[in-house]
Amino acid sequence: MRIFVNQLQFMDQATAQARIAQLSTEIEQHNYNYYILDNPTISDFEFDKLLEELLALEKQFPEFLSPESPSQRVGGQITKNFKTVKHKYAMLSLSNSYSREDMLDFDRRVKEGLEMQATDLFGATVDYVCELKFDGLSIGLTYEKGILTQAVTRGDGVQGDDVTVNAKTIKSVPLKLKGHFPDVFEIRGEIFMPKKVFEAINKEREDIGEAPLANPRNAASGTMKMQDSRQVAARNLDCYLYFLLGETIPHQTHYDNLQAAKSWGFKVSEHSKLCHGIEAVMAYIDYWDKARYDLPFEIDGIVIKVNEYSKQQQLGFTAKSPRWAIAYKFKAEQVSTQLQSISYQVGRTGAITPVANLAPVALGGTTVKRASLHNADIIQKLDVREGDYVFVEKGGEIIPKIVGVDLSRRDAGLSLTQYISECPECQTPLVRREGEALHYCPNENGCPPQVKGKMEHFVSRRAMNIDSLGGETIEQLYTAGLIRNIADLYDLKKEQLLPLERMAEKSAQNLIDGIAASKTVPFERVLFALGIRHVGETTAKKMARNVKSLTHLRGLNKEALLEIDEVGETIADSVIAFFKDPAQQAIIDRLERAGLQFELSQEQLQNASDKLKGLTIVISGVFTKHSRDAYKAMIEQHGGKNSGSISGKTSFILAGENMGPEKLKKAQSLGVKLLTEDAFLEMIGEG
Ligand code: IVH
Repeated sequence: MRIFVNQLQFMDQATAQARIAQLSTEIEQHNYNYYILDNPTISDFEFDKLLEELLALEKQFPEFLSPESPSQRVGGQITKNFKTVKHKYAMLSLSNSYSREDMLDFDRRVKEGLEMQATDLFGATVDYVCELKFDGLSIGLTYEKGILTQAVTRGDGVQGDDVTVNAKTIKSVPLKLKGHFPDVFEIRGEIFMPKKVFEAINKEREDIGEAPLANPRNAASGTMKMQDSRQVAARNLDCYLYFLLGETIPHQTHYDNLQAAKSWGFKVSEHSKLCHGIEAVMAYIDYWDKARYDLPFEIDGIVIKVNEYSKQQQLGFTAKSPRWAIAYKFKAEQVSTQLQSISYQVGRTGAITPVANLAPVALGGTTVKRASLHNADIIQKLDVREGDYVFVEKGGEIIPKIVGVDLSRRDAGLSLTQYISECPECQTPLVRREGEALHYCPNENGCPPQVKGKMEHFVSRRAMNIDSLGGETIEQLYTAGLIRNIADLYDLKKEQLLPLERMAEKSAQNLIDGIAASKTVPFERVLFALGIRHVGETTAKKMARNVKSLTHLRGLNKEALLEIDEVGETIADSVIAFFKDPAQQAIIDRLERAGLQFELSQEQLQNASDKLKGLTIVISGVFTKHSRDAYKAMIEQHGGKNSGSISGKTSFILAGENMGPEKLKKAQSLGVKLLTEDAFLEMIGEG
């Protein structure tokens, strides 16, 4: 029977405990179906409902919240400094090989180490397990009685960082195992960022004018170091496991143990393969050297391990790595082709990207015609010139890059590359801000790709959501001279649209209706839609809740802006520069007259006050009346600032039950007051 959230108040403890257990099992099964089997059996909506119910129940009955509850995957806990933990078993790395010869050498060394007889050297074969070499960061997960108790990064191999809180947000890392597993064991694997997630994050970063993440590997390790586990949860990392350690491991071969780990709920690659002899290993390597580009994540090679534990033991270790395993590293495929020209692209934020236009060449399964040249410094360092023959590589990065110039083929007449000094689109002199690698076109409001890019951002789904206005229509309206900035959209008339090509009566009406409907989009999304550099969705939301109206926001000085949660120097400077610009001011005034939502809705405003203005409040402990998030929202709604750590600036601590002893000590030493949740609710008039 389904018990609905709004019936919770009638639930007794025993029923709640049973329901929490049932929901936890059910939700984890759905996580398993989705993230490990890749075969979801319910919709996202239904899943969210189950999770919501669990969160609500755990809030009301915190005594039944267990560390392995799937609610832990949502994140929320902040870790200021990760604890350093010594590895129970040293975390060694592997020696590398790069060629068939290296691999034959490895096979020979293994056979010699196993003292296989001379006749065997030709006849007998060793069983190897071949696995993909995932390109991420290694992690050691400890399970006790089937519960994940610790996740530690590699560190220096002897000790690493305890990142358990962050690891729990990775949906493919089981929090609780099934089947028959050893009482205590460690399993090692690789945390990585799938290609699709990496691309989506970079698209978003580009959208708010932030430098893209270099490659999925750095993105994954950067994410695991984040202090806010909620942000880690949002980054959708994944994890494959490949190595079992412990006193009571069930099987005598690596391959069988991998299969056992799979049955306990771990994500074990279905591409791991048992190979009889080195030739089968070579075939596996050759296959994946080509097929790797089709995988949804990046690999940088193959790992080859002797299958039998008795043989592994016999072979032992060198100081740095096991003698029973080796990594085969793929060569980053490299080709040489002619650089026909260098062109310069202007992005939505005005950033200039130099692009190499190449004579088409086959590389990593696709035809490459263009490669990124990144910035002026890189062009200078490579001394790359139009007409040169260049080496192009597809390495860890998704976009191919130029790694060098074939000087032996350089024509004497080629001239040195002069980086452009003016915008290729609007001829405005470019600027390069101190400490930044990129050049920018500062003509934000007049440079065509910047203007069109800003409009695309403005109408996008998470901003004003005008879906009847796509990139092509924006281009068309811009070319026809009908729009020059976002405010012009609200002056468009149907009669102006009808003469345009492919613009029938119905699509013109849809467009006008879509624009009109956007006038009800809430203030926080309008703020995001304005496209203020560095102001992403979350920041916009926080700012909107805090300042309540655009008029108020426009009037804030830097100090006041810095008071807002999540707003640091960069964002504050960017907001001030934005509102100081007379062109932006004019646009904003027109948008206001057009009737866009420039303040929080009545409903949001009714609950708001200035009661906590100027106060910095730390939330700590477990609460019974509202969730932590709800308290956070209340603090912001009443003008206060929520902070993660106790300092001299803390006004008081909103203290629930079981507040950590460290925090308590710190609060006492600084003389910071503690407030119970009842006292707090009274303070804001909700007691
Ligand atoms: S086994 C003692 N298997 O590559 C054996 N490692 O230098 C330990 N890696 O640090 C590693 N995929 O982070 C193993 N299927 C795989 C792997 C793998 C990626 C990483 C791991 C390790 C490095 C080896």
